[in-house]
Amino acid sequence: MSANVGFVANSLAALSAQQGLRWLALQFPEAVRFSSALGLEDQVITHMIGSEKIDIKIFTLDTGRLFQETYDLLDLTQKKYGIPIQVYFPKAESVEKLITEKGPNSFYDSVANRKECCFIRKVEPLKRALQDTIVWITGVRAEQSTNRSHMPLVEWDEHHQVIKYNPLLHWKEKEVTDFIDVHKIPVNTLHKKGYPSIGCAPCTRAIMPGEDVRAGRWWWESSNKECGLHEPDVSLKK
Ligand code: ADX
Ligand code: SF4
Repeated sequence: MSANVGFVANSLAALSAQQGLRWLALQFPEAVRFSSALGLEDQVITHMIGSEKIDIKIFTLDTGRLFQETYDLLDLTQKKYGIPIQVYFPKAESVEKLITEKGPNSFYDSVANRKECCFIRKVEPLKRALQDTIVWITGVRAEQSTNRSHMPLVEWDEHHQVIKYNPLLHWKEKEVTDFIDVHKIPVNTLHKKGYPSIGCAPCTRAIMPGEDVRAGRWWWESSNKECGLHEPDVSLKK
């Protein structure tokens, strides 16, 4: 599988995001998946896929702790584009055990506890979602963080054994918001209330003007603010 990466990377380098999505769907029918957290970038990609009915399956990881506004947007997006968005839940027994043993808010106690919750609610379900996948598409942008600024447009994801494509990697924030305005794409109503980056409700808060866009994510931590989806933690691999 990894032998394809160079070919895919070279081909995609010359294409726009929309062209890249079309090309991948033709190259790898049924085997291209897009993970949407319903963020601004995700809504751009969903629009590109949904408005042309490109053969790329969209899924979202419902951690069980999302904002009501995020569920509202999921509902609106499915209705607007008339395409299914496959929902993956964490394993019930894992969540039951975590909450029984450590309580519902263990993520505030330590980075290790927080990563444990992210592993159960996001990382493990992602692994299931990416079964039978050749190419995984994400909405990551380089500008979002130092960690992401080094990410390539296309890479081999050893942990998930897939080719990972970040079509909006080099888009600037304004390109994203302009695209959304021009195409009248639905977005989370929380963005207007000071939430540029939205994850789980207990782990996301609004930012102050001038703060980093990810400052409201796991705001009590001084970690690199990743949940393990884009930087799998070896110690948590199961
Ligand atoms: S996170 O790792 O900090 O939570 P972020 O919210 O910036 O990630 O989203 C970056 C990309 O990761 C999204 O564009 C999406 O591809 C993927 N992603 C993050 N969270 C989810 C989720 N709950 N469901 C599906 N994809 C997700
Ligand atoms: Fe758990 Fe918070 Fe991670 Fe969501 S973001 S999975 S609630 S630790």
